Amino acid sequence: MENKDLKELYETARKWTLEAGERIKHSLTDTIEVEYKTSAADLVTQKDKEIEQFFIERILNEYPDHHILGEEGMSETTPADYQQGTVWIIDPIDGTTNFVHQKRNFAISVAIYRDGSPLIGCIYDPIEEELFHGCKDNGAFLNDEKLPVLTSCSVEEAVISFNHLWVVPNEKVDYEKMQQIVLDVRGVRSIGSAALEIAYVACGRLDAYLDFRLSAWDIAAGIVILNELAGISTTMEQEDVDVFNLSSTIFIRPGLDEKLTSYLL
Ligand code: IPD
Ligand code: CA
Ligand code: CA
Ligand code: CA
Repeated sequence: MENKDLKELYETARKWTLEAGERIKHSLTDTIEVEYKTSAADLVTQKDKEIEQFFIERILNEYPDHHILGEEGMSETTPADYQQGTVWIIDPIDGTTNFVHQKRNFAISVAIYRDGSPLIGCIYDPIEEELFHGCKDNGAFLNDEKLPVLTSCSVEEAVISFNHLWVVPNEKVDYEKMQQIVLDVRGVRSIGSAALEIAYVACGRLDAYLDFRLSAWDIAAGIVILNELAGISTTMEQEDVDVFNLSSTIFIRPGLDEKLTSYLL
């Protein structure tokens, strides 16, 4: 891809992400129509669908040969499309529960991958007006501010985040090992938006974020941003994260990764 085309695509992704954020922000006083997906803890609203549709219309109009993978499944991309050409991976509202209950702590997450590899990532918190963004080999930013490359810290100094489900018996991870992590780190947070939690690792507000049941749209943009900052995206077994085929995911400062994953083996 030519530099000019990449720059234009990056600018377009940021512009649309900001625009989508404004739409959500201006509708916060509207009545939110909430539906259950698989359970009462798995929500979708008309806004999630509307924002996904907002992106689909623009992408198909401007880039008809691009593919789209969105959480609400409103485009027609098949898994075979992900590994070739350009695919937009979209979580229209990451943190829908926060959106419904708190009207804050949610984000729009938009990534562009080319031939299966991370290229562009945008995560926008419209309430805080914070756009985290990055483009392969061009650094990562919080709004206009370039983010510094991440460095290591010790387990004792680390403030990490994960979902409370991982410290009670569950099918994904040994909860007693997670309890030991809780005891050894400086602090634990649970924000409820995977995209924001990865963005917070990128800008140093968190030192690690762990999850064991995420999907491509939760993490694709965050990976682009972290890659630019020497941040690590890994699995419990210290393997590379495959966005299109996920197991466990750990987003973390370099150097802290081995110390923390050693708890989980
Ligand atoms: C969810 C949030 C949440 C994470 C869930 C995700 P959604 O995304 O990122 O923090 O724990 O696994 O599904 O459904 O609000 O887009
Ligand atoms: Ca969801
Ligand atoms: Ca999500
Ligand atoms: Ca979502």
